[in-house]
Amino acid sequence: MRIEIPREAERFGANHIYGLQKVYEFDSGPHHEASGDEDSVIQRLSYEQLYEIEKEMAIVVPIRDEKLKLLEGVLFGIPHHCLVIVVSNSKREPVDRFTMEHKALEVLARFTRKRLLHLHQKDPVLSDALARAGYDYLLDEDGLVRDGKAEGMIVATLLACLAGKRYVGFIDADNYFPGAVHEYIKEYAAGFALSNSDYSMVRIAWNSKPKIVRSHLYFAKWGRTSVVTNHFLNKLVSHYTGFGTEVIKTGNAGEHAMTMDLALQLDYATGYAIEPYHYINLWERYGGVVGSLSSDIILRHVEIFQIESRNPHLHEAKGEAHVDQMILAALQTIYHSPICPEELKREIVQELRERGILGPGDPVPEGTYYPSLHRVDLETLRKALCNEPYAPLLERSSRPDAPPLPQAAPAGRETLENGHLGDTGDELPEEAAAPALENGKTDAPPA
Ligand code: GDD
Ligand code: MG
Repeated sequence: MRIEIPREAERFGANHIYGLQKVYEFDSGPHHEASGDEDSVIQRLSYEQLYEIEKEMAIVVPIRDEKLKLLEGVLFGIPHHCLVIVVSNSKREPVDRFTMEHKALEVLARFTRKRLLHLHQKDPVLSDALARAGYDYLLDEDGLVRDGKAEGMIVATLLACLAGKRYVGFIDADNYFPGAVHEYIKEYAAGFALSNSDYSMVRIAWNSKPKIVRSHLYFAKWGRTSVVTNHFLNKLVSHYTGFGTEVIKTGNAGEHAMTMDLALQLDYATGYAIEPYHYINLWERYGGVVGSLSSDIILRHVEIFQIESRNPHLHEAKGEAHVDQMILAALQTIYHSPICPEELKREIVQELRERGILGPGDPVPEGTYYPSLHRVDLETLRKALCNEPYAPLLERSSRPDAPPLPQAAPAGRETLENGHLGDTGDELPEEAAAPALENGKTDAPPA
């Protein structure tokens, strides 16, 4: 692959958020064909470099009642050497869609010899194992894992960790183009190849989303939810840096990947808030606004890559109410963050009222958050998942855990609820401001 280095970067404490990177060539050949006269602003990544990363990656496909043809297409696009975890919340009755998925996947696995785990997030064995391993936050009043895409993704992240994977990437099951899926995974690997940190995240910005407008095909640049989410996330960054910015292009990136070390550190938000909350949680934890930043964290910084895909993105259209639900999910995580200034809160309320998502006088509802996964007892979890379908893929021992990134800020909303954060106000505490917040352009590649 040939990919441009990031042209700009915003630093928010220990978080380095790189500007959008474009891909110039999907396939730039093997290592031994490097010409030696590469342009310094374009990085050439060989087959071998990408392959080495992909084989340490699990690809998680969350699915709920999608067409089987779409799921199959997604699986066709995933490179053979990635471990595939399909985490389903599909209906069991009146039609057992989960079993239908299972049969389709069995055939596909026989044809491709792929390593594949298909599980239902309501499996009682799973919820029992989570409870035993000290992570019952995900369970509902029936003792099963709650509904929600995020809940499925969190469970699958733990399974990927037990399988010893160094990276975990997510691909929605309702993607129409197998070629786009293939591209996203190559771009995940490219981001990790460019990264200098064990704590990195790669988020895909779609090149375009095709739509039919007055019987013509129109390639819209931005999704309706993303425009709103990106706008408010950028305003939050600007508030602290003092410079207007449009660096955030991937507030709602369903297609994203993380190093396992980072995935185990983050708190998660429920449902469709999961992706915008990644940013918020990183800024709360490692932004230097609440709590203080040690030099160790600044040294072991977090890197966020945003890569623009070349394929158009086409997925199932799920209607207006769904868009409103996603906008509310994103904006409530920003609104209720201890780092959200009052003026931004007012703008969020205004936005939600103008869209009719909130009625006059309605408060912004609080979302649900799950604490980070480093508190899970992984060995207990592994022992509790010693039968089919889990055991065959979890037999390899996990990587010895990297030392956890020190906690800069209090971890997430829990602490807020306990009242430990105090008044965060509009102003950045002086001691955090100096080294932590910096807005700048850089010519230097991240590597
Ligand atoms: N396991 C599981 N459990 N999967 C689910 C659940 C659930 O409860 N609910 C939905 N899914 C699956 C869907 O089947 C689909 O594959 C994927 O999660 C995304 O859900 P969609 O309902 O298709 O969401 P979307 O297409 O509107 O939004 C996607 O893209 C956004 C960016 O535009 C999601 O990935 C969003 O999180 C993302 O922000
Ligand atoms: Mg979708």
